[in-house]
Amino acid sequence: MSRAKITARTIREMKARGERIVSVTAYDYPTARLVDEAGVDLILVGDSLAMVVLGYESTIPVTMAEMMHHVRAVVRAQPRALVIADLPFASFQASPEDAVRNSARFLKRGAEGVKLEGGRRVLPQIDAIVAADIPVLGHLGLTPQSVHAFGGYRVQARGRGPAEALLEDALALERAGVFAIVLEGIPRELGAEVTHALSIPTIGIGAGLECDGQVLVLHDLIGLSFGKPARFVRRYAEVGEAIRTAVTSFGEDVRAGRYPSAEETYAAAPDPTATPPTAAVPEAPEKSSCKS
Ligand code: KIV
Repeated sequence: MSRAKITARTIREMKARGERIVSVTAYDYPTARLVDEAGVDLILVGDSLAMVVLGYESTIPVTMAEMMHHVRAVVRAQPRALVIADLPFASFQASPEDAVRNSARFLKRGAEGVKLEGGRRVLPQIDAIVAADIPVLGHLGLTPQSVHAFGGYRVQARGRGPAEALLEDALALERAGVFAIVLEGIPRELGAEVTHALSIPTIGIGAGLECDGQVLVLHDLIGLSFGKPARFVRRYAEVGEAIRTAVTSFGEDVRAGRYPSAEETYAAAPDPTATPPTAAVPEAPEKSSCKS
């Protein structure tokens, strides 16, 4: 039985039903198909693709053109999960007009909503996108596009003052009409406080167990990323190691002349001018030693 398509409204209503939201990133067709078959609720085409699959040092350099290329690939998998595209750095900060124009470019390529980083300072952008009937996912806490302002990837809002400011941001985003908020890299207690204060869901990444859902970068979760994983990452597979082992074996087989085998090789069509083989004379059956 095929289950109903998940929309932004479904995600919002999951909180009231007490259902935890499962989200991962995907950046291409095969991973979008696989995570959807695994039953995730929300696929995020995150700007983390800058570092995870494009090899940039941070998320700052990734462009709208690069993001749209990956959004189109994910959408071709026709996921049941909600597909949200991440507005990259400099695609929305300058003006609400930029924010709406770039959100619309994602929707024209099949995304079903957008995510953008920031609190009250990007409210004009959020208001404008919501007014254009585009579902918005908020993102507060350790927002990676602010890495230079933060002076590195550091846990945010540890003290009471910044924690209260983050809570005010979350309440302002809810009033503006976002359907959910990603909370990244904040203390567990604050994740819980924000989650209890809002009627829309929170989706945590390094924000503790009390959030209404959890999101991870797929490549971290499956062991296909490099470097020391963050504290909150749990690895469920070692796909990087599996790739290395498989390709090493292929290389060994090629170098040793073990690949391809006869079964992995095509034969030429039989030569129609060749003389047909003489019909084989069937051998006389062996006499049975059994006496009937
Ligand atoms: O870009 C991304 O993948 C994200 C998630 C980690 C929340 O923003």
